[in-house]
Amino acid sequence: MISVPNSLERAATLLNTAERVVVFTGAGVSRESGIPTFRDVDGVWSRYPADQFATPAGLLATWNDGPERVAEFLLEALEPLISAEPNAGHHAIAALDAHCDVVVVTQNIDGLHSAAGSRTVYEVHGTTYRVVTGEGEPLARLTRDDLRGVARRLRHILATGVTEARILAALRKLLGFNRSGMYRPNVVLFGEALCEPDWSFAQEAAEHCDVMVTVGTSEAVYPAAMLPASARNRGTPVIRIDPVGDPEDSESIWLEGTAAEMMPALAARAFGESGP
Ligand code: OAD
Repeated sequence: MISVPNSLERAATLLNTAERVVVFTGAGVSRESGIPTFRDVDGVWSRYPADQFATPAGLLATWNDGPERVAEFLLEALEPLISAEPNAGHHAIAALDAHCDVVVVTQNIDGLHSAAGSRTVYEVHGTTYRVVTGEGEPLARLTRDDLRGVARRLRHILATGVTEARILAALRKLLGFNRSGMYRPNVVLFGEALCEPDWSFAQEAAEHCDVMVTVGTSEAVYPAAMLPASARNRGTPVIRIDPVGDPEDSESIWLEGTAAEMMPALAARAFGESGP
């Protein structure tokens, strides 16, 4: 007989009987698709500190010190994203749609939940696949080929000589000025407001869910991390899928493992299947 850990059994029973589920995801859900996380030892912020690359003022100061570092950062951010495909974790989350009312709230900007087929996805930190005005109004959708083109130009410039003008020309699909003013990627930096209407819809869904499943997030960044924190405060069960956790934490049901291992295992235990 195969022994099923008690936590998996409890989590599966909760999921099986829930009508409304919020799945709250972070960088860890896309790790097995080849996209690095932020705060793990090999994470993005270990090479590109967040205060220099992820705040409006820090990014501007880094650019003024030498735009080459900004070009390197953007290329490192784009390269894994343009070749990533959804992994078994994304697919298992998408397959939950067949069983209950599922809202995916993601902090990721990689588009992989929609690519996996999840019906309702709120991207509270934005998406690399959209360009917005300076006021945050949607301006254009970008394709993966658009992003591949930007990455190709950045690679070429880094190999042949960096100037501010060359970088800005390479980035023109993402960033620049047109007749109505400035446009930029729809990506939230530290200190900026979360994306609307996604953030309001996400809060509403989180308030009314029966179960929340968090996958691959350190829950270190607010206000997004308010969603699982408030759910716990309200007494809503929170299932946490992550290879790292605290066995003494009694506020979540921790399923120790990666997204691509544990999310299909949870779905299989709850509904007798692992994905499409
Ligand atoms: P973090 O890098 O803070 O946390 C990633 C989490 O994923 C950690 O808890 C890891 O243990 C876990 N993890 C690693 N590999 C995993 C795997 N294969 N499967 C499942 N989990 C895994 O990333 P986030 O919590 O997403 O925001 O960070 C939140 C926000 O901080 C990001 O949206 C970004 C960042 O700064 C902004 O830039 C505004």
